[in-house]
Amino acid sequence: MAEKTLEALLKEDRHFPPPQDFRERAVVRDPKVYEQAAQDRLKFWESFAQQLHWFKKWERVLEWNPPLAQWFVGGRTNLSFNCLDRHLTGSRRNKTAILWEGEPGEERTLTYAQLHREVCRFANGLKELGVCRGDRVTLYMPMVPELAIAMLACARIGAPHSVIFGGFSAEALRDRINDSKSKVLVTADGGWRRGAVVPLKRNADEALEGSPSIEKAIVFQRIGTDASPIMKPGRDLWWHELVARQPDWCDPEPLDSEEMLYLLYTSGTTGKPKGIIHTTGGYMVGCFATTQWVFDLKEEDLFWCTADIGWVTGHSYVVYGPLLNGATTLMYEGAPDFPAKDRFWTIVKKYGVNVFYTAPTAIRAFMKWGEEWPKKHNLSSLRLLGSVGEPINPEAWIWYRQTIGGGRCPIVDTWWQTETGHILISPLPGITDLKPGSATRPFPGIEADVVDDKGNSADAGYLVIRSPWPGMLRGIYGDPERYKTQYWARFPGVYFTGDGCKRDADGYFWLLGRVDDVLKVSGHRLSTMEIESALVDHQSVAESAVIGKPHEIKENAIVAFVTLKGNVKATPELMDELKAHVVKKIGSIARPDEILFTAELPKTRSGKIMRRLLRDIAEGKALGDTTTLADTSVVQALKEKYEESE
Ligand code: PRX
Repeated sequence: MAEKTLEALLKEDRHFPPPQDFRERAVVRDPKVYEQAAQDRLKFWESFAQQLHWFKKWERVLEWNPPLAQWFVGGRTNLSFNCLDRHLTGSRRNKTAILWEGEPGEERTLTYAQLHREVCRFANGLKELGVCRGDRVTLYMPMVPELAIAMLACARIGAPHSVIFGGFSAEALRDRINDSKSKVLVTADGGWRRGAVVPLKRNADEALEGSPSIEKAIVFQRIGTDASPIMKPGRDLWWHELVARQPDWCDPEPLDSEEMLYLLYTSGTTGKPKGIIHTTGGYMVGCFATTQWVFDLKEEDLFWCTADIGWVTGHSYVVYGPLLNGATTLMYEGAPDFPAKDRFWTIVKKYGVNVFYTAPTAIRAFMKWGEEWPKKHNLSSLRLLGSVGEPINPEAWIWYRQTIGGGRCPIVDTWWQTETGHILISPLPGITDLKPGSATRPFPGIEADVVDDKGNSADAGYLVIRSPWPGMLRGIYGDPERYKTQYWARFPGVYFTGDGCKRDADGYFWLLGRVDDVLKVSGHRLSTMEIESALVDHQSVAESAVIGKPHEIKENAIVAFVTLKGNVKATPELMDELKAHVVKKIGSIARPDEILFTAELPKTRSGKIMRRLLRDIAEGKALGDTTTLADTSVVQALKEKYEESE
C-alpha cells in the first residue's frame, strides 16, 4: 500500500457503534464472549461443535503438535448431512436453501428437501462411476446450483473436491488436475459471462489431453444448442443422464474429523500453485460459527455472498457456512455490470437480500460507476454489509455504508485466507464499534498478533496467528515440507500470514496488504512468479520481472518488465502476444496491464532482480537506494524508458 494512503488510514478516527435496534436483536450481544472464549478456547469451539450432528463424538477437541493440528479428534461426522439432512425433520424442510439467478435472468429455487434429493442422486452417480472415499474429484463449473450439488455430493461420500475457478485456462486446469490426480472431472458445456459463453467443456477437452488420471468427465448442460460440445465416447457423460437413473437416497459416510474435505489451489510465492488441504470436522465448526456470528444470521435472512465458488469465500460463505446454518443462500451466475451496472442492486431489490457480502474491488467499481445505479433501487431490505479479500480504503467503506447501506447497516470487514478456511478477524456487528478501514478484532477464540522482524509483539509489522484454529489448513497437497517452511518457519510454532498489519491503541487491526510476492488483483490472488514463468515460457522472452502497481479499483495492476531473446524485436504486436500467452497459461485474471521491454533488468551483484526498484519506477517515485546494484545505469535508463512509455 502506498505510504500516503497508509498514513491517512492510520489517522482515521471516525467510529460507528452498532445502531441500537441492530444491537438489541443481534445474535451476539454480550461483549463478554471475547473474554470467555479467551479463557477457554477449546470450550468455545466445542460449544459450536455440540450444535452439529456427529455420528461419533470427538474424544479430544484439539491435538497440537506444531505445526500439525487435529481438531475434534476421534469424531465422525459428515458435512453434507449437517448441511442438509439435519434440516429435513423440522420447519426447514421446505425452506429455500439455494436461490439462484442465471445471468440471462432465469430463476431457480431449491428447498432443503429438493437439494438433499439432488445431492443424493449425484452422489450415487459418482459412486456408479467408481468414485470411492478418498478419490479426488475436480469441479470446473459455472456458478450454477449443480456446482454446490457436486460439492455436497463429494462431501457426502468422502471424495475430496477440488474446485477450479471457471476463469482459469485449459493449461491451469490441467496442472491442477494432475497435481491432485483426480479421477473424475465435473464440468459444463459452458457458462454465461457478459452475454457470452465461457467455453468450459472446450477448455476441459484441451486439459484432459494431458491429464491421465481422469477416467470420466461429467458434463452439465447449462447452455444447450449454442454450445454443443463434442462428447468423447467412453469418457464423457451427461449429468442429466447420469442422475436420471439414480435413487434419491445415498447414505452419508461417517467421516473421520480429519478426513480431507477438499483441496483448493491458491497462489503462493513460487511459480507453482499450492493445493491447500481442508479437513472435515474443524472446517465445519469454523464455518458454522463464523457465518452465524459475523453475519448475524436469522432464520428468515436471505444471505448473498457475491464470490465465485471457485475461491475460498464461495466455499465457506456461499455453500457450507450458510447451509450449515439452515439459511437461504443466493447464487448469481454472471457479472455485476451485465446487462447494466445495476445488476446487483436489481437482484437485491428483486429478492429482498438482507445480508450482502462482497469485495472492496467491486465496491470501488460501483463508486466509479456512480451512485445513480444503486439509487434507482430500493435497497431497504439490506441490514448488514460485508467486505472481504483486500484492505478496504476508508472512502470506499464510507461510500458502501452510505450509498448501499443507507447509513443504517453495520459493515463487517472480514480478514481471512484460503489457508485459514474461515474468517479470523472481523467485527461482531451487534457489539463492535466500527472504524472505516479496520477489520477490527480477532474473532473470539482466535489468537492473532502483530509482530516485528524478531517475532515480538509490536504495533506494526506482520500479522501472525499464535495458536491453532479449527478451520486451518492441514497441509499442502503432496508437499508437507512446503507447508512447514511457508507458514511455520519464519516464527517457529506461529502461523505466518504473509500480511502486513498495524494495531492501534484500541487493539484494532489494520491490514496493510501482502508483504511477499503474492499480488491481489481485483481480489484474485496471483503470484508474481507464476506470471513470470508464464512469460518466460514464451519463445521470445529471456527474462521477466512482474510487480504490482497500486490501482484505483483493482488494488494492484500487473506490470511486467521483459527482456527479449537475441535479436527479437520489441513490437506492439509482440506485447499483445505476450499478454495473450499469459492468458493461455493461467487465465484472463492474470493478463498483464502493462509490459515494458527492456534490454536489462536491475540486479544486485549476486544476480537478484531488484523488484523494489521496479516498483519505484512503476509508481513514478524517486529511486530508493541503488548502491547494491551491479550496474546503476540500467535502472536509470529503465526509469526514463518507463516514463516515456506512459
Ligand atoms: O492479503 C490478505 C487479503 O487476501 C489474502 C488472502 O487471499 P485469498 O486466499 O484469496 O482469500 C481471500 C478471501 C478470504 C490475505 O492474505 N485479505 C483478505 N481479506 C482481507 C484482506 N486484506 C485486508 N482486509 C481483509 N478483510
